[in-house]
Amino acid sequence: KHKSMTIFLPHILNRKLPLVIKHILVKVTNNYLRNLTIRRLIFKQISCQLFSRMTNGKLQTAKTVIGNMNIVTCIAPVNIAVIKYWGKRDEKLILPLNDSISATLNTEQMHAKTTVMTSPEFKEDKIWLNGKEESFDNPRLQNCLKEIRRRAKENVNSEGDIDCSWCVHICSQNNFPTAAGLASSAAGYACLVYALAELYKVEGDITAIARQGSGSACRSILGGFVHWHQGSASDGSDSIATQIVPESHWSQLRILILVFLERKLDSYRSKCSLGMQKTAETSELLKHRISHSVPRRIQEITEAIVSKNFEKFAELTMKDSNQFHAVCLDTFPPNVYMNDTSHAIVSLIHAYNNALGENKVAYTFDAGPNACLYLLEPDVPQFLSVINHVFPPASQTSEYLKGIPVESTPVPKSLVTSIGLEPQESGLLKYVIHTKVGRGPQILTESNQHLLNESGQPSLAYNAYPFHSIFIRCIVSLVSDFVHNIYLSQNLL
Ligand code: DP6
Repeated sequence: KHKSMTIFLPHILNRKLPLVIKHILVKVTNNYLRNLTIRRLIFKQISCQLFSRMTNGKLQTAKTVIGNMNIVTCIAPVNIAVIKYWGKRDEKLILPLNDSISATLNTEQMHAKTTVMTSPEFKEDKIWLNGKEESFDNPRLQNCLKEIRRRAKENVNSEGDIDCSWCVHICSQNNFPTAAGLASSAAGYACLVYALAELYKVEGDITAIARQGSGSACRSILGGFVHWHQGSASDGSDSIATQIVPESHWSQLRILILVFLERKLDSYRSKCSLGMQKTAETSELLKHRISHSVPRRIQEITEAIVSKNFEKFAELTMKDSNQFHAVCLDTFPPNVYMNDTSHAIVSLIHAYNNALGENKVAYTFDAGPNACLYLLEPDVPQFLSVINHVFPPASQTSEYLKGIPVESTPVPKSLVTSIGLEPQESGLLKYVIHTKVGRGPQILTESNQHLLNESGQPSLAYNAYPFHSIFIRCIVSLVSDFVHNIYLSQNLL
C-alpha cells in the first residue's frame, strides 16, 4: 500500500504549486490509493480463492494466474564493466569481439522493473517503457520473445498452461534516470528476459537470450562478478555469461556513480550501438585490444577479484576504461563519450591515489560522461568529502547523495594541498549514487507490485500517467467512493 503512495507523492511535490494545493492533492491521492488498494486486495483474495479451488489448493508462488491471465513481475540489476565489451562479430545475434567482465550492482539502489503478462484476451503485443507506450516492432525485443517461445515449446516439463500464440503485454520502468552511461538497456533486457523465462517456464541458461536484447544484458542475469565469454560458435550458443564470484565474496567493495550536469553539446555524442559498429569497421587499435590487451587483462583481473587485490583490480579497471575510450577516439568518425568533467574526475582520482601512495579509487566510464568509481568501504567517507570539495554540489539536499548513507568527514588540509586541485564551479555534479555489488534478478511475489492491472493495462503503481490524469482519476475515485458508500449504507452491496 505505502509503496504505491511513495510513487505518487514526488509527482505532486515536485510541481511548482502553492503548498496548500500540494497538501490537498497529497491527501486526495493517498485517500484514493488507500481505497483502491483495499478494493484490489479484496479482488485478489476472491480470485486467489477461486483459483485455489480450481487447482485443488496448489497455488503458484512466482506467477499469479487469474482465470486465463498469466503475469510475472521482476526486478533486475545494472552492471558496470571493468573489462569493457566493445565491438560485435555478429550484429543480429549480438556476438562480441572480446570477453568482458563486470560487477552486478545492488538492486536496492538501482534496478529495472518489468511486468509481463499473457492472455488469450489480448488482441496485440504491447509494450510500455518508462511511462510511454512504444512500438513492439523492435527486432531485439522480437528476437528475445521469439527465442523464449522457441525454448518454451521445447520444454517437455512445461505444464502447458500458457499458449505461446497468446499476445503479451510488457510494462517496464527504471528506478534511476536513463542517463547516458548508466547501462539502462542491460538492466531492462535482463529484466524482460528473466520475467519472460519465468512466465513461459524456460529452464537452463538464459544469458544467451538476454544477450540478444543488448549484449551487456547477459551479465545482469547473474549476481556478483560476471564474465561474458565471447564464444566461437556461429549460432552464439557458447557466448554466455558465467559468475566468477557471488556478491558476498568481496563485501567491502563499494561503487559510486557520479551523475554530471548534462551539457547541451553532450547530446551530440554518438549513439552506443552505432558507435560500436563504426569502431569494429574502422579502428586499428581495436585489433590490438582484442588480440593482446583483453585476454591478458581478463585473466589478471579474475585473479585480482578472486584474491580481493584492490590495488591490481583498480589499475586494470582504469587502464581498460582508458583503452576503451582510446579505441572510441580511434574510430572514424570518432566516438566521444567523456566530457571535460569526466576528464577532471580522472585527474582528481590520479592525484588522490598519488597523494595516498596507493590505488584507493578506480574510475571507469561507459558510453557517456558519467563516472563509475570502485573503492573500498572504509575509504568512502573521506573520498566523498574530497569530491564535495572539488565538485561542490549546488545544494546539499537528500537528493544529492542517493543510496547507502555515508557519514561526512572533514578533508585534512594536507590532503587538499597534496591533491592540488582547485574547487570547480558548483553544481557540475548533479548527484551521487552510493551502492555495492549485488545479486541477480529477483521475482516479486506480491501481487500489488505488478505494473499491469487485471486487464493488462499499466496499473496505477506504474509511473505512466500525466499529472492532470492523476487529478481527474482522484476526483472520479472520490465520487465513486461516495456513491459506493451510499450503496453500502443501504445494504445494497
Ligand atoms: C560501453 O550492451 O549497450 O557499456 O550490445 O549494442 O546493446 P549493445 O550494446 P551495450 O554496450 C555496452 C557497452 C559498454 C561496455 C560494457 O558494458 O561492457
